[in-house]
Amino acid sequence: MADNTYRPGLEGIIATETSLSYLDVEHEQIVIRGYDLIELATKVDYLRVAYLLVSGHLPNDEEYENFVRQLNELQNIPKQIYSIMGSLGKHVQLMDSLRTALSALASFDPAVDHRDPDNLWHQSLVLLGTMPAIVANSYHIKNHEPVIEADPKLGYSANFLKMITGKVPDETETRAFDQLLTVYIEHEMPNSTFAAIVIASTLSDMYGALVGAVASLKGTLHGGANEAVMKMLLEMQTPDQVEPYLKDKLARKERIMGFGHRVYMKKPDPRALLMKASLKQLVAIKGHADLYDMCVKGEEVMQKEKGLFPNLDYYAAPVYYLLDVPIDLYTPIFFAARTAGLVAHVREQYEHNRLFRPRVLYTGQQGLHPQ
Ligand SMILES: CC(C)(COP(=O)(O)OP(=O)(O)OC[C@H]1O[C@@H](n2cnc3c(N)ncnc32)[C@H](O)[C@@H]1OP(=O)(O)O)[C@@H](O)C(=O)NCCC(=O)NCCS
Repeated sequence: MADNTYRPGLEGIIATETSLSYLDVEHEQIVIRGYDLIELATKVDYLRVAYLLVSGHLPNDEEYENFVRQLNELQNIPKQIYSIMGSLGKHVQLMDSLRTALSALASFDPAVDHRDPDNLWHQSLVLLGTMPAIVANSYHIKNHEPVIEADPKLGYSANFLKMITGKVPDETETRAFDQLLTVYIEHEMPNSTFAAIVIASTLSDMYGALVGAVASLKGTLHGGANEAVMKMLLEMQTPDQVEPYLKDKLARKERIMGFGHRVYMKKPDPRALLMKASLKQLVAIKGHADLYDMCVKGEEVMQKEKGLFPNLDYYAAPVYYLLDVPIDLYTPIFFAARTAGLVAHVREQYEHNRLFRPRVLYTGQQGLHPQ
């Protein structure tokens, strides 16, 4: 089929069919296998939504318990992975450490490129199960701290947060972190998911597809925005600095991190609204009211100046901050949360595979000859 329409950045182009998720912008809903993501995030935990994505339905109690047990069995990674992460250069960024660790993990899988459903289910569990250890310990390894082993007595999110901060989180912190992971879990066809399915479409393996997705998610126009938002909030320091700071950046034609979105653009991101509410609750307990006021002020200024709404990263950043998560882990944690969505997309790609191979609008010369 020849279609010569060219849209830079593939804006608005339908790239694939999926039954996993859909941004229903008109109804301001993120649909995850038929459910509203925000309702899921307020009613069920991260692992249930992960199960929904990977298996197709919400788990009953027995399925949930089995899922938790299987993940617990898989959550300790081969020690060699830590050695590899420890041997990286001292300037290593944690997304690059994650990318390397994921790549290395493939070498421990004897069935790395088997695409039968049982093996893909197993690989999905390996990736979900090991992600907290890889992500949390990338930070400890870089900072020459001892690695923290998983604690199977804690739930997935409480354990993940404990492996990051070294403290067992209380119920409020656990719930806030779990909700944060859930809102990051899946989002239709962002650049990183597209990268993963493009790689999978060559029948390359699941680890490789996710390695490509890490590289994509690192960029500040995508997942890297959450770290940039927190640095910006810390630079602004007080609510009365927000307006001049943002106006100055806008006057210099700079992008303000945490605002705008290719699909929503001039509509609110429902995930940002939920994180805003979560931030408000955390501030009520932990203090830092200024942080909340700064965020709200920033939202007002950007609405007035550019008509732009905050995206998830804008309100996720201060939530991470109040949970004592180091800033350079914000994007790796986003990736860890997104793993469930990514493995589900890769499996779906294998099930209905068609190699991605688009064409170009050639703007170069033709007919030249070497001397
Ligand atoms: C996400 C993003 C890349 C989407 O960009 P896009 O679809 O390519 O949109 P465009 O670059 O075409 O922007 C459209 C207009 O909005 C403006 N705009 C979009 N996001 C902006 C931002 N964060 N700050 C300032 N202006 C912004 C652009 O300058 C442009 O204005 P113009 O028409 O006057 O030139 C963009 O909004 C952005 O850079 N946001 C900041 C990074 C971020 O938060 N990323 C996380 C996304 S979840």
